[in-house]
Amino acid sequence: MSSWTSRATGDPSVDGWVALHQAEAWASERIDPQTWDYVRGGAGDEVTLRDNINSWSRHRLRPHVMTDVSSLDTSINLFGARLAHPIVIAPTASHARYHPEGEIATLRGGAAAEAITTVSTLASLPVDEIGARARELGTPWWMQVYIQRERSQTYELLDRAVEAGAGALVLTVDTPSLGARDRDKRNPFGAPTGIEFPNVPAHTVHPDPTPAHRRIWNPHLANNVTGDDITALRDRYVIPVLAKGILRADDTRRAIDAGASGIIVSNHGGRNLDTAPATADVLADIVAAAQGHVPILVDGGIRRGTDIVTALCLGASAVLIGRPIIWGLSTYGAAGVAHAIDILRTELEMAMALLGAADVAALNPDLL
Ligand SMILES: Cc1cc2nc3c(=O)[nH]c(=O)nc-3n(C[C@H](O)[C@H](O)[C@H](O)COP(=O)(O)O)c2cc1C
Repeated sequence: MSSWTSRATGDPSVDGWVALHQAEAWASERIDPQTWDYVRGGAGDEVTLRDNINSWSRHRLRPHVMTDVSSLDTSINLFGARLAHPIVIAPTASHARYHPEGEIATLRGGAAAEAITTVSTLASLPVDEIGARARELGTPWWMQVYIQRERSQTYELLDRAVEAGAGALVLTVDTPSLGARDRDKRNPFGAPTGIEFPNVPAHTVHPDPTPAHRRIWNPHLANNVTGDDITALRDRYVIPVLAKGILRADDTRRAIDAGASGIIVSNHGGRNLDTAPATADVLADIVAAAQGHVPILVDGGIRRGTDIVTALCLGASAVLIGRPIIWGLSTYGAAGVAHAIDILRTELEMAMALLGAADVAALNPDLL
């Protein structure tokens, strides 16, 4: 977004941002209408998009009182690392649409809030540049993987990402086809001038001769991603491979059998298959299917600390946040990214204190 400026005089300072949903309205004023439709939108009639938000609050928390919570600890262990809290930045494409510094601003915000940043294959900056900056900042980051039709191109990119310090690979397995994104079709939505995908070489993008109204394939993505791709990544790289976009117990077992080190329960923020279940509604089944073999992460509609404790009580190890990071990035840059996470982290601590859970291990299904 080339016209980015810090918020105008009279706008609330970042400290005036007290709950995540406030910034959605501010972001809608700062992002151009077509891009805003792309960010906020979901597939089809947006049933899953709405359900993602609503389903967390259908759960009820049953607090323990008379518990000493004077030393609260939100830290978790994930893939051998100690993390200050269980909030991870989800991969979202093209951060240069929202801020001139693109993914570097996101990374700086994530570093300030002690959160791992997941970098999209469709990032606006080369992975090597992002990795170098992450190293300077001393902040961990993960690389999201969209398998390209020519797999050698994907491996070439991932070799660079791993060399640049990526701590895990997040293989998105839920996008063989585009979702029916009416808003983007109406607009029609395309990359504005100056927005590029430097990690996807132009010659690997397959132009689609089909008329626009009959198109179902994304020109960037392979439509034959299977467990074999998980195995291939597991065999080629030493870092953990997470499968992102799982909604079923049987697929959970298939992904683990294929070599996944972690599962991300996700419906792509309601952007792919409309009427797919809300992640809050399938999380417990997936945790049960994994039988503790690998950590289960979840995203989709997480907007409150109470949503995070609900996810952890249901058995998730961590959560990912998508759109609110874009709201923060487009309104306050790196400070906005950090503030979005800080809001959630603070609400998480309050919810844990009020639930009588002094640490993350104390969050269990009995509290629901
Ligand atoms: C604008 C936008 C772009 C996204 N781009 C990607 C992407 O490049 N790769 C990916 O795996 N998921 C992508 N996602 C999905 C997110 O990683 C995540 O699953 C989802 O946003 C979580 O839901 P939430 O936005 O309600 O927090 C995108 C989501 C949005 C909103």
